[in-house]
Amino acid sequence: MSERLKTVVFPVAGLGTRFLPATKVVPKEMLPVMDKPLIQWASDEAVEAGADTLVFVVNRNKRAISDHYDQAFELEQRLERSNKLELLQIVHDVLPSHVRPVFVLQSEARGLGHAVLCAQPAVASGAFGVILPDDFIINRQGPGALAQMAAVQARQGGSVIAVEPVDWKDTGKYGIVSGTELSQGLMRIDSIVEKPRPDVAPSNLAVVGRYVLDTRIFELLEQTRPGAGGEIQLTDAIAALLGEQSVCAYRFEGVRYDCGTKFGYVHATLKLALDDAEIGDDMRRLLAELHEGATSD
Ligand code: G1P
Repeated sequence: MSERLKTVVFPVAGLGTRFLPATKVVPKEMLPVMDKPLIQWASDEAVEAGADTLVFVVNRNKRAISDHYDQAFELEQRLERSNKLELLQIVHDVLPSHVRPVFVLQSEARGLGHAVLCAQPAVASGAFGVILPDDFIINRQGPGALAQMAAVQARQGGSVIAVEPVDWKDTGKYGIVSGTELSQGLMRIDSIVEKPRPDVAPSNLAVVGRYVLDTRIFELLEQTRPGAGGEIQLTDAIAALLGEQSVCAYRFEGVRYDCGTKFGYVHATLKLALDDAEIGDDMRRLLAELHEGATSD
């Protein structure tokens, strides 16, 4: 077993209706948090975890994502000629040269499980990662969430799923797990259920958008019938996997922002702005002023 996750899958064929009209033309994954689109925060996290193959599961409206990972020949030439080498480096860093992007079509919106199954032809054997870019995770203290999970998978084998406790009233928004604690922050999952109502939820421990999965999941996904919301749910295939191998829930280190909601998106932006070397002090001043009601605009 190695700590390296060769392949990471990004299911990004969703509509992003919560951010209309911004997402009428621009994919929600291209919305920036500070100066990086959400999808790039996610791909940087995958590359940090060791990935050299990034599989984007897209639809026809997501051209901007493949454009983002394509070479911008004219822009690069111009930056080079005008000796703007720092900017040129930023453009090059969008996709390190050893990393290969692969684009797979999900023509019908049939759920997260179906999206992951679409990636199968591009996924190497062994464990692979899945990142849902809406779940934006920052860990200032150390490695990113997916790298942490790759290390857990290398130790434990099987599959690893990121979790965090949520308000009981919100269990209906998430996959919810329960199980047996193995060590601090690590649990062997005994049951997993998609979006249960609070009164029937087995716990308030919610799956967030990071998975390290054994490729066996693909065969199970092929057999998975539509579940919650009439969609093919990744959660249901994971439930089937529980009977075959160890699936761990891992409480990652770091903070998750739900950038699928306006509140989470603005929260993440605000946090990064406050931490930013260039604008952090001005932001703090601005927030203090706004708090005191000192500004009228
Ligand atoms: C998906 C999964 C769910 C998980 C969530 C994390 O739901 O189906 O199990 O808890 O992502 O963000 P979605 O948010 O796509 O409805």
